[in-house]
Amino acid sequence: MSLIVRAPAKINLRLGVGPLREDGFHALDTVYQAIGLYDDVQVEPAEQWSLTLEAAPGLDASQVPLDERNLALQAARALTRHHDVSARAHVHIVKGIPVAGGLAGGSADAAATLVALDRLWDLQTSDEDLLALAAGLGSDVPFALVGGTAAGTGRGERVQRLDDHGTAWWVVVPSHEGLSTPTVFAEYDRLGLPADDSVWRAGERGTAPDLEGVLRTGDPALLADALGNDLTEPALSLRPDLRRTLDDGREAGALAALLSGSGPTCLFLCRDAVHATAVRIGLLDRGHERVESAAGPVAGAHVVRYE
Ligand code: C5P
Repeated sequence: MSLIVRAPAKINLRLGVGPLREDGFHALDTVYQAIGLYDDVQVEPAEQWSLTLEAAPGLDASQVPLDERNLALQAARALTRHHDVSARAHVHIVKGIPVAGGLAGGSADAAATLVALDRLWDLQTSDEDLLALAAGLGSDVPFALVGGTAAGTGRGERVQRLDDHGTAWWVVVPSHEGLSTPTVFAEYDRLGLPADDSVWRAGERGTAPDLEGVLRTGDPALLADALGNDLTEPALSLRPDLRRTLDDGREAGALAALLSGSGPTCLFLCRDAVHATAVRIGLLDRGHERVESAAGPVAGAHVVRYE
């Protein structure tokens, strides 16, 4: 038997970053959304653990480790340890999510592997245990299981589904070169953030636009005003060229421009699918070679095929 599980990329509609905690992570106050860019993870029983990877056309996955550092293999180990099983599998990842892009592609692979092996071996892991295993693997792995739109607290690993209405239409511009999440957080500390106008501080004072209320209206113009990302300043400090990409999307008519997580992927919110096509063409005209569209919210990790 072999099984394919699909897991989505995530973006942060709001990413409020608080102070550095004693465990080396930052407190987060975030709202995640799963969007329609995916990695597929295929698993089948095998004598030994092995991992192979295939990238979608135009996507550079050469930096993804295929050894124990890969989050999918770590997820497999965590699940077998949890159930004390000795079964092994071959894991094959088909990457559609840009690597080191602030889209949590590695976390998507981990979440998909947990679900795939759970189903392959009929382990019947409870949702609670799956979420706990996911949290042990990385701050945004639990969200990759849950999908949709969700609030994230703690270091991002505590997720709670939010009501949302309608579809948000995004144009996505990946970068030719990735950014490392720890480096962006380190730059955030070096710059002495959070600043007074940070999304985090706004949340603390209760002055942030009511994003949860906005999501229930499904109105993209209101959503445009409620977006925010505290990692913008450190990411732009490391990659000043991204400012131009964000400006290009605004000039192309997007309702809002937003950095995805720790970057460098840039996101552009559009009114509807037709508007998204116009913004895409505007970005292509301005010289951006890879410009994708993705709608959100979409489901978390789920089985798409078995044979
Ligand atoms: O949890 P995850 O392994 O994805 O985090 C990668 C790195 O990003 C952490 O080691 C830390 O440097 C940084 N991080 C952080 N605060 C968070 C999440 C991640 O500082 N809430």
